[in-house]
Amino acid sequence: MSEQAGGIRRIAINTGGGDAPGLNAVIRAATLAALQEGWEVLGIRRGYMGLLEGQVDGEPGIFPLTAQSVRGIHHLGGTILGTTTRGNPFGLEVRQPDGTWGTVDRSQEIVDAFRSMEIDALIAIGGDGSLSIANELCNKGLPVIGVPKTIDNDLRATDLTFGFQTAVEVATDAIGRLHSTAEAHQRIMVVQVMGRHVGWIALESGVAGGADVILLPEVPYSAHQVAAKIMERERHGRRFSIVVIAEGARASGEEPSYADSTGRYGGIADRLAAELEELTGKEARTLTLGHIQRGGSPTAYDRNLALRFGAAAVRCIREGRLGTMVALQGQNVTSVPLAEAISELKRVTMDMDLVMAARQLGISFGD
Ligand code: F6P
Repeated sequence: MSEQAGGIRRIAINTGGGDAPGLNAVIRAATLAALQEGWEVLGIRRGYMGLLEGQVDGEPGIFPLTAQSVRGIHHLGGTILGTTTRGNPFGLEVRQPDGTWGTVDRSQEIVDAFRSMEIDALIAIGGDGSLSIANELCNKGLPVIGVPKTIDNDLRATDLTFGFQTAVEVATDAIGRLHSTAEAHQRIMVVQVMGRHVGWIALESGVAGGADVILLPEVPYSAHQVAAKIMERERHGRRFSIVVIAEGARASGEEPSYADSTGRYGGIADRLAAELEELTGKEARTLTLGHIQRGGSPTAYDRNLALRFGAAAVRCIREGRLGTMVALQGQNVTSVPLAEAISELKRVTMDMDLVMAARQLGISFGD
């Protein structure tokens, strides 16, 4: 079977960037589908580090993926290959002789390693950052198929990314649980969810979880408007309020400033809670959900989407559609050019029907 697929004999798979529930399901589906084609499958540990370092944590950096090694993993969170957010081969961080940090470009080593190991294609599973790296490697001659992954769901070329729905479920459950305690204490609860540049998790979990206010990176907010909504509820005898805020949200007239020097986000919920206490005279507490949104088992939907993506990636290789990314469009998984896939983020827009429905339900966006 392998011979008809353009001479493909051996492929590799890696996972890069922040993890998302469903990565293992992609690895399982891609491996089993590739084995069915008669291809050999290699897993690269921790993005490209396994190739560059040879060993990762005392284990071979690149190793065979077999039916045995992908058995029983499709429901598990994390990734059996490991991942890193600091493994960009075009700009790897290195300690300089003077103790400061610099970067070095080791991308050519990867292209050369693929040639010398006779690996015919790479399935790169990642978000916008990892897919941009994959695209650059593709431009250097490495045959790549991208598989989109991010709980943020911010890639325009695909209707959904796996992991997103799981994150929304986790956040919705947390928001739901806050209602009774917020009401018992007549408090404002400010819940910070992930979403650096886009507010999909905040929007979907906020509406499903019954939030009173939802603040998104796409819509600059006014703390006064948020306070006004809370006081309006107060006048109607609703003495508690739930505010859901995406980590990348920003007050109007301000830049998104809640990333620290390492690019990590945090702190916006605490700041808003302090402002709301001042403006309303009510007690405000915060909850930052953080990485719990990325952990644990994927939902059935995310498992299936991830399995479909993994299998579709193998079809792309078989059919010679290299340099593309698999994508969900409507009911079907198709493929789009990688360069196009990474060109634009998918943002929440205020004319979406979920936003309009939220407004009709009386939910405030703080604008
Ligand atoms: O890109 C997904 C994401 O979950 C963001 O929403 C969040 O800011 C980021 O990853 C955090 O990643 P880490 O803490 O692993 O660097």
